[in-house]
Amino acid sequence: MSDRTKVVSPPASSSTPDKIKQFFEDRDWKFYCALAAGVTLAGAGAYYLTQPSSPPPKKKGSSSKKEVKSNKKAADAASRASAGAAAEEPKAATSTPAAASASNEAIDYATLADEAIEQLTSQERLKGAQTLKEKGNKLFGAKNYEEAVAAYTNAIRYKADPIYYSNRAACYSFLGQHDRVISDSNEALKLDPVYVKAINRRAQAYEKENQLNDALYDFTSVCILDGFKNDNAAKSMERLLKQVATTRAKEIMKAKTHRLPSNTYVNAYLDSFRPAKLELPTTTDETSGDYHFAKAYRAALDKDYTTALEASEKAVELGCSPAYLPAALNMKGTFVFLKGDTQGALECLNKAIELDPKYVQCYIKRSSIYIEQQDIASAFKEFEDAIAINASDPDAYYHRGQIHYISNNFEAAAKDYSESIKLDDSFLYAHVQLGVVQYKMGSVSSSMSTFKNTMKQFPNSADVHNYYGELLADQQKFEEAIEMFTKAIELDPKNPLPYINKAMLKFQLMAEADEAISLCKKALEADPACDAAVASLGQLYLERGEPIEALKCYELAIDLARTEPELEHAISYVEATKTQIRFAQDFPEAAAKLRNLRQ
Ligand SMILES: *[C@@H]1O[C@H](CO)[C@@H](O)[C@H](O)[C@H]1NC(C)=O
Repeated sequence: MSDRTKVVSPPASSSTPDKIKQFFEDRDWKFYCALAAGVTLAGAGAYYLTQPSSPPPKKKGSSSKKEVKSNKKAADAASRASAGAAAEEPKAATSTPAAASASNEAIDYATLADEAIEQLTSQERLKGAQTLKEKGNKLFGAKNYEEAVAAYTNAIRYKADPIYYSNRAACYSFLGQHDRVISDSNEALKLDPVYVKAINRRAQAYEKENQLNDALYDFTSVCILDGFKNDNAAKSMERLLKQVATTRAKEIMKAKTHRLPSNTYVNAYLDSFRPAKLELPTTTDETSGDYHFAKAYRAALDKDYTTALEASEKAVELGCSPAYLPAALNMKGTFVFLKGDTQGALECLNKAIELDPKYVQCYIKRSSIYIEQQDIASAFKEFEDAIAINASDPDAYYHRGQIHYISNNFEAAAKDYSESIKLDDSFLYAHVQLGVVQYKMGSVSSSMSTFKNTMKQFPNSADVHNYYGELLADQQKFEEAIEMFTKAIELDPKNPLPYINKAMLKFQLMAEADEAISLCKKALEADPACDAAVASLGQLYLERGEPIEALKCYELAIDLARTEPELEHAISYVEATKTQIRFAQDFPEAAAKLRNLRQ
């Protein structure tokens, strides 16, 4: 069962962002890594990749077991190589004086000219290489990195061995020459593409050189190749992912123009206020503010929010008659706020309150702005003022309940929702939220009865069916939950959320990926800007092993994101997915091995 449905989001302003945030937090990056590489974590955990060992001893004198093993491996490889070249050996041996003397006295391998090395037998060359490498390892152990570099450089003249390059890279790393670490690691990896330690070292060098995307990719590869056992690489990967995402989110935010969020989001916010009873101006004079106010008001009722925004701006610009100006300012303030311009919104609402100090709704909307700015104290102050003006305004209690709810103060929230219902029991969302908060407090039976009564009172509400479905799913009553989502879709085909919920259940319970994807696509048709639909679709593609399609979804999620945290989440998944696609291309064998292990 998805965690997504575990926490039910309030139908108010925080609904959509909550959902998307939750979606991204549901699964950690490892899950996505594994998916895109064609692996599940369970498989990856059991898998042990045969790796080439092993860089130089880390500490002075620590001639570790690994080192011995690597010598043995190298020797094995060398004996295989020399067996192949056996026919040429006698000729080489007779024609080189240096080689002839090798058996009798120690050769100074370091000073032997390249031409002379070429004349050696492969066994002699190997001996030279190993002698020099051991010398390098000793120097390395003694922290004499410059000389160790020279020794490895000489060893490489005898044999192009990934270990020698990697060891020399380790020296460069201590010498702070990160560009050389990168080029030596590249050489090592040309010879042995799955040399995890070389990848890891290159990752660190990339990070030092501030090539963060490359570092991220390398750390990710280390994580996967090491079967997710390398904690340091995992931590580095998470850190870099965060860093890359934060940096890019900041850049994007700077360039992003304010625009209205998805219709689902706007609906949820507007629906959290009881509809006002207002006689609209009837003027047909298109040069008057009143005309545009009426136009904006009707457009909002028709859910044409772009028109509503523009017309309300026009109304304020042209100026309305005193009877309508506060309402016009309220409307413009609301849409400007939804567009993300909190300063502009505050100005409108302040002016509306100046003109009509008893305009309770404007106080509540100001509190929404403070919540978005995470200024909870100022938000509560607005409610104090609102309730002082009119202690029997149900909206004030409902919205104060919402703040208690997001602050996890469930009892206070329940009290406010109940008060709101007592004052006006015709407002659907107060009932829904009461049911949700009862559930959160563990009073499952009161919650269920609240929902049942609410469904009786509002039989045609898609929202109540959808939220009830989520609670049923949380209680593992999957059949009933699916029924509720289906009913919700029937009642309001324009509401994307029940499609997404149904899709996730269909996928997780019945493994019906195709149907799940088609449901998510319907959600997107219903609301093309629905970020939750895009994110769910991405997850489904990833689970079905289609990372390229998933990537498209996450890129769309970047476009749709409105706040910096949302952007960061979306960017993280774009980067993680990209990295994984690249991994599957660069390491097809490793990816395939991991895939097989899953079966
Ligand atoms: C207080 O709010 C209620 C509900 O909106 C309304 O019916 C009532 O007239 C308001 N009272 C005052 C004094 O504005």
